[in-house]
Amino acid sequence: MIEQTPSYLTGHLAPVSDEIEAVGLPVVGALPPELTGRYFRNGPNPLPGEDPGSWFTGHGMLHGVRLDRGRAEWYRNRWVRSTRLEGASYRRADGTLDMAASAANTSVIEHGGKIFALMETSHPFELTPELDTIGPCDFGGRLTTGMTAHPKEDPATGELHLFDYGVRPPFLTYHRLTAAGELTTSFPVEVGGPTMMHDFAITANHVVWLDLPVVFDRELVGRGMPYQWSDHYTARIGLMGKDEPTVRWFDIEPCYVFHVGNAREDEQGRVVLDAIRYSRDAWFSTWSWIGGVPLAEQAARRSVSNLHRWILDPATGTVTERELDDGNAEFPTVDDRRVGLPNRYLYAVDDHAIVKYDSERGRIARHELGEGRHAGEAVFVPAAEDAGEDEGWLLSIVTHDDPAVASELLVHDATDLAAKPVAAVRLPRRVPAGFHGTWIPDEAL
Ligand SMILES: [Fe+2]
Repeated sequence: MIEQTPSYLTGHLAPVSDEIEAVGLPVVGALPPELTGRYFRNGPNPLPGEDPGSWFTGHGMLHGVRLDRGRAEWYRNRWVRSTRLEGASYRRADGTLDMAASAANTSVIEHGGKIFALMETSHPFELTPELDTIGPCDFGGRLTTGMTAHPKEDPATGELHLFDYGVRPPFLTYHRLTAAGELTTSFPVEVGGPTMMHDFAITANHVVWLDLPVVFDRELVGRGMPYQWSDHYTARIGLMGKDEPTVRWFDIEPCYVFHVGNAREDEQGRVVLDAIRYSRDAWFSTWSWIGGVPLAEQAARRSVSNLHRWILDPATGTVTERELDDGNAEFPTVDDRRVGLPNRYLYAVDDHAIVKYDSERGRIARHELGEGRHAGEAVFVPAAEDAGEDEGWLLSIVTHDDPAVASELLVHDATDLAAKPVAAVRLPRRVPAGFHGTWIPDEAL
């Protein structure tokens, strides 16, 4: 039992109590003028006095910074106005999920000129470019399930691949939107049970499924996140064609993956998947922390998650796995123009640092923020449309253990990550650590 304030309500995770805005933000250094657009970041932020029972279930709050040709024009933060914010439950009286009652707290994307706040198993919530809530979106009635917070945009076609998982058969449903945002493809995919599927991957020809041993547990409904590690469920990665519901499964060593870095096909037609892996022990420790138990109070503290590579060979039906780096890492990101394609670089954060990996040489750079400062997910923005991979900027909101210290939006040159940031935008308040962000250039809207 937790006898003190849950970890998700204290330190750098502590929520803020109100919505504010400020204009003309001070900048240390020089903002690259080509960064003209909006950086939005989503994360849980319970209402004052509220304890949602888990870090994962607090109401979604967006923090937004508008940059315009070298100036930091504004900051504002807004809760997503869902019915849940007004007190509605996730579940209706008949037990079914109310997808419009989403906390909408996990990620934020732009697709087809629209902005959506996302949370798995729920409908997307459309937002205005000023972070006001328009409302839940079911793509004209065509989205009859929830939607993952980690859809993948195919850089070749602009299509958005997505899925939903649930507790009743078919457990997994695949969907695809056109580049313009029309939902044209939906079909069920057979999996062995109701596993928690936070992320997936695409390659040029495949959809890559992560069917891992964290399984729905009816006993836990109403007590935080109703999923638990299972020693009986076989961990598998699946390869599926983009238009065929048949999946080729590859059994792997038991583990959990919240986040994929990228997947790609190699010259031999094998699928190479790079993702952040949790061992059984690391999963239990992290899941307890997400549920509110401070790491320092855990008997078997092991929060390490690190970058691994799985290579799946459809010709032989074999899979190999290896650790690419032994350092702690989460929130892996790539240049979005490389999603599903060969990528050389991958970025991630290690609590007090932003790190960069070279797929050929391992970890090649690390930017230490120092004690008490925490790195948010580093979002890559290319310096120009035709810039090479890694030629661009990494945007990350830094949060602090000390609630009196305001946060900063750091802009790093990705090619020189170890150097000091090229610009630091001083935000008018502390921003709690959150989940995922995105850069939305003006021309996308
Ligand atoms: Fe995530």
